[in-house]
Amino acid sequence: MNPLRSLILAAAGNDAVRGLVASAPVSRDVVRRFVAGESTAEAVEVTRSLAADGLTATLDHLGEGTTNRTQAERTVRAYLELLDRLHATGLADKAEVSVKLSAVGQSLGENLALTNASRICAAAEQCGTTVTLDMEDHTTTDSTMRVLAELRRSWPWVGAVLQAYLRRTLDDCRELSGSRVRLCKGAYAEPDAVAYTDPHEVDLNYVRCVNVLLAGDGFPMFATHDPRLVDVIGERARWHDRKPGSFEYQMLYGIRPAEQRRLASEGNVVRVYVPYGEQWYGYLVRRLAERPANVTFFLRSLVSR
Ligand code: FDA
Repeated sequence: MNPLRSLILAAAGNDAVRGLVASAPVSRDVVRRFVAGESTAEAVEVTRSLAADGLTATLDHLGEGTTNRTQAERTVRAYLELLDRLHATGLADKAEVSVKLSAVGQSLGENLALTNASRICAAAEQCGTTVTLDMEDHTTTDSTMRVLAELRRSWPWVGAVLQAYLRRTLDDCRELSGSRVRLCKGAYAEPDAVAYTDPHEVDLNYVRCVNVLLAGDGFPMFATHDPRLVDVIGERARWHDRKPGSFEYQMLYGIRPAEQRRLASEGNVVRVYVPYGEQWYGYLVRRLAERPANVTFFLRSLVSR
């Protein structure tokens, strides 16, 4: 992994740095570039405007690493309220939700996370939409896979996220290729023992996984902004005779928005990952770490107020 990226991710976990950044008078524009807003209403509004541009959404209520039940319960309620609003506003066919198990109590016990995620899945089913489980750092992968398998006994449409940087992921793709799988590169600082750390190797593994998922009879969701990978996915999809609608491109809110619209205008299904909520810190840091230019943009906003 790029040393600057490792440094930013390591600093992000430091309480002093966290306190400093979270309390700094960060310009609303910087956070707003990547985050839809703090409220359910703002998330729904962004979904509506994406839908007007021919895009679909997956909404993430920000928050992760919850260490108390009250906070986990608050997160579940936020998702229930969101699903209710999506249904009431007629947007449930344009948006699904993405859930981090650590936000609904995974560190307090796998059963709590399963119970809470089940409540979100049941509500999503009632609204006629779906849920995808985000994937966090590698120490949680086995647990997330177990919860996924349990959830799929009742809701086979629950989506999984697989991270191409993990050495295990090609096998996981083979295992899950008959289902809804979101493939991303991976956003956490992971050790060499479990992950490819050379970006080129990550890309190669991403392409291997693309082939496996397109050859399967599931629904692949390719989450990347990488122009070379976007081209490869299009080419391989044609090779596998995959029509638009039998797979999706996915990108993050605020990143390559023109490309999102270009892909949609060519008839592809494009889903935008829309984070919202008050706990934007961890998410923002991962986006900054992905691109040093974002750090400059962020620091400039702190001094230019
Ligand atoms: P890469 O990082 O190589 O970027 C390719 C190009 O995209 C860059 O050159 C730049 O042009 C643009 N770009 C990428 N990131 C940018 C940024 N932050 N700011 C500005 N431009 C940027 N990860 C994870 O570990 N678990 C998960 O559950 C998810 N979920 C998820 C859902 C969706 C829909 C997406 C799109 C991504 C994720 N991720 C994730 C994040 C993912 O693992 C990865 O960190 C980012 O997508 C960046 O990787 P790229 O594939 O875009 O390639």
